Amino acid sequence: MASDVNLTVCADPAELAETAAHLIVDAATEAVRERGRFMLCLAGGETPRATYARLALPAFSERMRWDRTWVFFGDERAVPPDHSESNYRMAYETLLSRVPIPPAQIFRMCAEHADADGAAAAYAAALAEALGTRRGELPRFDVVLLGLGVDGHTASLFPGSPVLREVFRTVAAVHVAAAQIPQRLTLTFPVLNAAARIVFLVTGSEKAKIVRTVLSEPARLPAAFARPTDGELVWLTDRAAAALHPIGEAR
Ligand code: 6PG
Repeated sequence: MASDVNLTVCADPAELAETAAHLIVDAATEAVRERGRFMLCLAGGETPRATYARLALPAFSERMRWDRTWVFFGDERAVPPDHSESNYRMAYETLLSRVPIPPAQIFRMCAEHADADGAAAAYAAALAEALGTRRGELPRFDVVLLGLGVDGHTASLFPGSPVLREVFRTVAAVHVAAAQIPQRLTLTFPVLNAAARIVFLVTGSEKAKIVRTVLSEPARLPAAFARPTDGELVWLTDRAAAALHPIGEAR
C-alpha cells in the first residue's frame, strides 16, 4: 500500500536529533529481532550531523547492535573521503568512527572515481549483495534517511534531472550543474521507495517554503517522489521548517 505522510514537528533541531536517534534505535532493534540485521541508508548535507552525533552517544549507541548493522549512503559528491564536502567524512566523523561497527559493513560511495558510471554500477552490485537481493528484486533498506534542499531535491535527485524517471538502475551518476560539486552518485527512486521506512530530516526557516510545497503539491518536486510503495514515510521537521505548513502553523 502506498504510504501516507507521518509528520512530526519538533521544537528545535536538538529535539529533532533526539527523536530521529530514538527512531533509528527502535527500527534497528526491530529489524535485528525480526531479520537478524539492520540495513541503514544515511543522508548527506548538514542537517543529519546532530542526529548522527546523538546516535553515537552511549545512551543510544549502546542499544544498537552495530555488529548486525550495515550502513550505506543515499548520495555522495565527487570528492575524496577526507574532503570537507564529503558526506562520508561527515558521517564518519560524527558517527561511524565513534561506534563499534565493523568497517566491512560501511559502504562508502566512491563518487570521486573517474569512471562515474562504473562506480555507480559497483555500488549497485555491492548494495544488492549486502542486502541479499535476488534477481529482479529491489534491495530493501530498513531505514533511509533523507534531507531536503531548498529547490526540492533530495539525495542527489534534483528538479528536472532525467534520473528522476529512472526505473532500472538503483544507483546513478549525475551531473548537477547548479551544485557546488556538480558530479555525484545517488540512489534512485526505485530503491529508495522499496525501503521499509523513509525518514526526512528537515530543519530551519529557509526550508519552510519548500516543506509546504513538497507536502501540499505531491508529484511536483523530487522530494515528493520519495514515497515507499510498501513502507512508511516519516517527516521530522523543527518548528521553523514547518512554520508554513498547516500543522506547523497551528503550533
Ligand atoms: C547532498 C545531499 C542533499 C542534502 C540536502 C539538504 O549530499 O547534498 O544528500 O540531498 O540532504 O541538500 O542539505 P542540508 O541538510 O545541508 O540542508
